[in-house]
Amino acid sequence: MMRFLGKTALVTGGGGGIGGAIAERLAFEGAAVGVLDRRGDAAQEAAARVEGGGGRALALTAEITDPESVAAALAEMAEAIGTPDVLVNNAAWALKGDLESTDLDDWRAEFEIDLDGQFVCAKAVLPGMVAKGAGAIVNIGSVNGLLALGNPAYSAAKAGLLSFTRSLAVEYGPSGIRANMVSPGTVETDIETWRIRREKNPQIFDQLARWYPVGRVGRPDDIAAAVAFVAADEAAFVNGANLVVDGGLTAGLPVMIEELILE
Ligand SMILES: NC(=O)c1ccc[n+]([C@@H]2O[C@H](COP(=O)([O-])OP(=O)(O)OC[C@H]3O[C@@H](n4cnc5c(N)ncnc54)[C@H](O)[C@@H]3O)[C@@H](O)[C@H]2O)c1
Repeated sequence: MMRFLGKTALVTGGGGGIGGAIAERLAFEGAAVGVLDRRGDAAQEAAARVEGGGGRALALTAEITDPESVAAALAEMAEAIGTPDVLVNNAAWALKGDLESTDLDDWRAEFEIDLDGQFVCAKAVLPGMVAKGAGAIVNIGSVNGLLALGNPAYSAAKAGLLSFTRSLAVEYGPSGIRANMVSPGTVETDIETWRIRREKNPQIFDQLARWYPVGRVGRPDDIAAAVAFVAADEAAFVNGANLVVDGGLTAGLPVMIEELILE
């Protein structure tokens, strides 16, 4: 499938696990991809992987919470590969595990990266999309935005991101721009929260698999496939949706069911 031939995509957090897979998937299907990350070396490595696979990519070093930094990256992208037809708001960050340890500075810091940054990036690409009369924005949410699973500031920001997605969908739908959310369950990456948990418990992903009806946690490619679907023209009637990609985690409570059956 070459659903993005002739199109340009911007993937924030493209130097990370899921963002890297999204960049590779969109490029594999024909897109020229701007791989944006605040870690310039990680963006370079991801862009090199895309190019190594025969795709076209441009590494961009930028901070999503800073409108000037994002504008400079977009200007560089416009010059090199064009303005984005697709924005994947994927960059995010979480640190505090519970409310007890979260103070107001932590709360604001997580909101800044997990909600303000997505607003900054969407605002930056919208004028170009409106001028083209077409565009697709994909916000990466989380099952944490749907139910309490720890990381309360991150979770509240992800829940807010769903509302923002819906506002985008309704206000910009008439301009030919669709906005959707993809909400992953656990995905094996090196995001700080997983790195810390894995240091404490190397078996964490195997252990968590029992909560997942499909018998495993997610892989970055699982999320990339869903992003490619909602971003592609074939999803022309999918707007304002939240595609939960969690192997059935939020469909029920299998561990509880097991205990109920034992009784
Ligand atoms: N891994 C999971 O289990 C999981 C589950 C649900 C949702 N998600 C979501 O998927 C997305 C990607 O997560 P991941 O696991 O690949 O994480 P990751 O840490 O591997 O990648 C995130 C990338 O974003 C970049 N980044 C962070 N803050 C930034 C900023 N302010 N400006 C620019 N770049 C910034 C980081 O440098 C990093 O490369 C996030 O939105 C995350 O919330 C992840």
